[in-house]
Amino acid sequence: MRAMHCRAFGPIDDLVFEEAASPPLQPDEVRIRVAACGVNFPDVLIVQGKYQFKPEPPFAPGGEVSGTVAEVGSAVEGWSVGDPVLATTLWGGFAEEVVAKADRLMRRPETMDEVTAAGFALTYGTSYHALVQRAAIKPGETLLVLGAAGGVGISAIQIAKALGARVIAAASTPEKLEIARAQGADDLVNYTEDGYRDRLKELTGGRGVDVVYDPVGGDLFEPTLRSMAWNGRYLVVGFASGEIPKVPANLTLLKGCAVVGVFWGQFRRTEPEADAENFRRLFELHAAGRIKPLISATYPLAQAKDALHALAERRVTGKIVLTV
Ligand SMILES: NC(=O)c1ccc[n+]([C@@H]2O[C@H](COP(=O)([O-])OP(=O)(O)OC[C@H]3O[C@@H](n4cnc5c(N)ncnc54)[C@H](OP(=O)(O)O)[C@@H]3O)[C@@H](O)[C@H]2O)c1
Repeated sequence: MRAMHCRAFGPIDDLVFEEAASPPLQPDEVRIRVAACGVNFPDVLIVQGKYQFKPEPPFAPGGEVSGTVAEVGSAVEGWSVGDPVLATTLWGGFAEEVVAKADRLMRRPETMDEVTAAGFALTYGTSYHALVQRAAIKPGETLLVLGAAGGVGISAIQIAKALGARVIAAASTPEKLEIARAQGADDLVNYTEDGYRDRLKELTGGRGVDVVYDPVGGDLFEPTLRSMAWNGRYLVVGFASGEIPKVPANLTLLKGCAVVGVFWGQFRRTEPEADAENFRRLFELHAAGRIKPLISATYPLAQAKDALHALAERRVTGKIVLTV
């Protein structure tokens, strides 16, 4: 099989598209013939050795795939060769084949095509868990989404609207803000312009926002925390800016608000039944047309480096997916 390999941690351009042996299959694993692979910010980090997981090189990046079951481990029940699936893999997806623990697979709904399925699990799983389990968002509450035209950002807008919240989208350019509006955002704010906090105040009638969804971090953290409503929940989702902010603890006291961590991968491992229930609901919402990944581009597997550069250089809106 062919794979886009990281032979040693380093720049994206050091990845090599090469012939590789099929990965060995353990008894509790399933081999998937990959049809498509979602590209996510962690893929940019993992090849540079900057992510929380550091696989032993050589490895292929790629944490979510769609495809068909090609081989089933001896201890696995419930899956057969030819089943249409989507799966999260942490890494290994930028390849023609990947193996995954059987409990990482979900059946691909008939209403979802392979490209959409490859761009679904990570972003929508994260945002649903964040908004439902971590923030307990209620209909009528105001949600501020930072990085709103990015992968997790768009999924957060769509899910929050489906749950009855009002959404303020925040991003760095007018073009990105218009994309967020087309995805359902009610109001827009550009966080690179002066008056960011004044605009949030104005949009919330001086109350502040109930829930913040923050995949960006860095310098945006403090002014955003200062813009929270009483009883607010600030969801720490990621640090796409490259900077992990420090929490000024006095602000949580003054605002009567909570700073709440979100780690979907760990939630999945520790609360698999709750995660499966989330996905039952997400697949229903997708089938009903209430949520839909915005796949802004597809790239052939051989051009995975271009896809990673686009993400790293802040040029992507929505999701990009590799076709295999
Ligand atoms: N906690 C979890 O369980 C979980 C799960 C999935 C992902 N994540 C994390 O969430 C973050 C976003 O992931 P994603 O896949 O949505 O990424 P993405 O599609 O690239 O979106 C990230 C957004 O961040 C903004 N940004 C600000 N500074 C940036 C910079 N220096 N470089 C790139 N983007 C920058 C960009 O919007 P503007 O240009 O509008 O600012 C961009 O649209 C990542 O840190 C990822 O690791 C966390």
